[in-house]
Amino acid sequence: MAFATETVYGLGADATNAQAVRGIFSVKGRPSSNPLIVHVAEVSVAKRYVTDWPESAERLARAIWPGPLTLVLPKGEQIVSEVTAGLPTVAIRCPDHPIALELLRQFDGPIAAPSANRSNRISPTTADHVRRELGDKVDLILDGGPCRVGIESTVVDLTSPHPAILRPGAVTQQRLQELIGPVELRMNVGDDSKPARSPGQQEVHYSPSTPAFRLADANVKRFSALFSGPLGANAIFLIIRGSELARQLGKWCKPEAIVEMPSSAEEYARRFYAALRDADDRHPDAIWVQLPPKDPNWDAVRDRVFRATRPPSHAP
Ligand code: TXA
Ligand code: MG
Repeated sequence: MAFATETVYGLGADATNAQAVRGIFSVKGRPSSNPLIVHVAEVSVAKRYVTDWPESAERLARAIWPGPLTLVLPKGEQIVSEVTAGLPTVAIRCPDHPIALELLRQFDGPIAAPSANRSNRISPTTADHVRRELGDKVDLILDGGPCRVGIESTVVDLTSPHPAILRPGAVTQQRLQELIGPVELRMNVGDDSKPARSPGQQEVHYSPSTPAFRLADANVKRFSALFSGPLGANAIFLIIRGSELARQLGKWCKPEAIVEMPSSAEEYARRFYAALRDADDRHPDAIWVQLPPKDPNWDAVRDRVFRATRPPSHAP
């Protein structure tokens, strides 16, 4: 069963039922080595499924739940090992969406739910995306309209001596630090030399079917090569509204090739996956995505842009 959350749609199963959880992996085509996030209705339920609830968890959960923040904590016995890919820790969160919360209250237990897409594809932010991703493999979709946040939750590991962000999201490093002090940001995207730290954090993880490349402002110099090359003429560009690149690009291509993206990180995040899907549906030769600014507010969006695209040097 799929359901709306504030971040992306999830594909849910009882986190205490191994067979139900195995169903998620088979529907998604997801490797069983990639652990799932467990959803709960409130803090008191979360506490039942972990063996330690440190002060940092209490502060973060009280301040942010329900909300787009996932805490990695020592796993309680009732969560089956299929959920955590055999890890001794569990990733747990309370989603901020009336449909998800009502489902969790009625079920009165923990629901394991990854994003409701096929493995290695873009996360769905509408019920229609889920239908198109999973078709009749999913028996029910609880439609809560388009997701407000639009990208997956921030994942924070509270089991190591120093808290660390394993996946950036709408809850920023700064916000976390205001609540619990120093939090390391383990951004390993954009740096191929470091191995992935969080399971499932391979660099290209959320990709459209069309070849997608990232475009930095510096790439303006390559426009002539780009437009005379095999991918330039029939490409779509996701460009930030009002940016210099938008102005430059306007001289080179037809207006319908440019998709203007919001200039605030929050609104950009809400639009990004849907914009990639829409571009994909138009069957261009390539999708070029402008790299957002190197600014802490854009950490999560930059991370997703990196994961959805390849560097321009990979374009033919
Ligand atoms: O916003 C979200 O978090 C969405 C909605 C549906 O709630 N869910 C989601 O789940 O994004 P999923 O399965 O697509 O992402 C799970 C990620 C894994 O790839 C991994 O990076 C991290 O969460 N994770 C899960 N369990 C972990 C663990 N025990 N230790 C470290 N990281 C873990
Ligand atoms: Mg996912």
